[in-house]
Amino acid sequence: MPERETWTSRIGFIFAAVGSAVGLGNIWSFPFQTGANGGAAFLVVYLLAVLLIGFPTMLGEFVIGRESKRNPVGAFAELGHGNWSAAGGLGVVTTVVTLAFYSVVGGWVLSYIVGSATGAYFGDAGAFFGSVSAGQTAVLTHAAFMAITIGVVAAGIEEGIERATKFMIPAIIVLLVALGIWGSTLDGAAAGYEYYLSPDFGVLASNFASIVPSAVGQAFFTLSLGFSVMVVYASYLGSDDSLPADGGAIVVINTLVALLAGFVVFPLLFSIGAEPGTGGVGAAFVGLASAFGEIPGGEIIGVLFFVVLLFAALSSSISLLETPTSYIVETYDFDRRRVAIALGAGIFAFGVPTALNTNTLGWYNDVVFNLLLPIVVLLFAIFVGWVNADDSYAEVGRGSSLGDTFSTVWLWWVRIVIPVAVIFTLVLGVQDLLIKGGVLDAAIILG
Ligand code: PHE
Repeated sequence: MPERETWTSRIGFIFAAVGSAVGLGNIWSFPFQTGANGGAAFLVVYLLAVLLIGFPTMLGEFVIGRESKRNPVGAFAELGHGNWSAAGGLGVVTTVVTLAFYSVVGGWVLSYIVGSATGAYFGDAGAFFGSVSAGQTAVLTHAAFMAITIGVVAAGIEEGIERATKFMIPAIIVLLVALGIWGSTLDGAAAGYEYYLSPDFGVLASNFASIVPSAVGQAFFTLSLGFSVMVVYASYLGSDDSLPADGGAIVVINTLVALLAGFVVFPLLFSIGAEPGTGGVGAAFVGLASAFGEIPGGEIIGVLFFVVLLFAALSSSISLLETPTSYIVETYDFDRRRVAIALGAGIFAFGVPTALNTNTLGWYNDVVFNLLLPIVVLLFAIFVGWVNADDSYAEVGRGSSLGDTFSTVWLWWVRIVIPVAVIFTLVLGVQDLLIKGGVLDAAIILG
């Protein structure tokens, strides 16, 4: 077996993990979900979900990864509980499915960078979206996005992922801050902030049963939890790092980037009088593109915005490909380059139907957010909190200066609070799916 790679520095790990966390979820979905679900009222639920459920769950994934120093399937056997491997395996399957969809949307972003520079969508943003989101162009850009992802993962942990994210994360933050400042000068800024930041608890109250599972699902997705991605990234860590400190930094940066994205998106939309939070998957692209088409200097601002989105998407997609790659490389001792190429090609093929018809994206959203992520998180919580309890307790405190009280509270939190919260959202999420599928009548359940 070749020697296992590790991050060269603590900051390398943090950038890589932030890269995984900051993605389409932060910049594309988050502002629009917030808009659709009552603005600041949704924000409150989402922030609570990130803090109370996301953060402790992230530490749980870190614990499995760092203690075992193995891929998410091998990790369980390494820790002496091989019969739990399926939990990690389910996470790996989720990364494969997710990457297929993610790469299609990543391809759209490539089209929008070109479209901004050439002004191709300035006349008719809706028609442009239609022409690049499904069909031949979408297949080609999906291929291009996947090829870049493969290139980074094939180059390895240090030369590939660490190097790419060390460049992309600072670029994302600097550009978003600049765009946010520019956004504050737009005519629509005040109305945009108002919409974004003033809570409408009425919307929250009347949609509680669908908002809670989507806020929790979004919290898992945005922090890349329930995919075993964080198990993989933590498996390349040394033992002297503080997991709570690093996890805290990752959660805070990820949240700030999402909030910042709202400060860019809402002033833009309101400056052209667009109504946020309506329409399907394309609404964000069409709405933003219309805005870039109307404001002075829209070409430049558009390119910058979509470059930010591209970096965010790429730094996430590499973690999605790294996860199954690490599993196959370690289990079968195959060459990393070949595995990354073969897996990437297979996942590309799996994504082609979505590149031809975007309807499958809604299906993906429903199944992964409402079902797969909570199930994997639940299994991880039971494993970390009960099955592997003593080791988990020791591992979370290793390298940390927070002391035993933190470890104890965390362990009990993972034992009780996370499973209860996740089961609660699972029940709501499944109900939501059944209602959407027409199996249940919403009126009966919701009264
Ligand atoms: N966190 C990413 C986002 O918000 C999604 C993602 C999940 C990426 C899991 C990688 C792994 O877009």
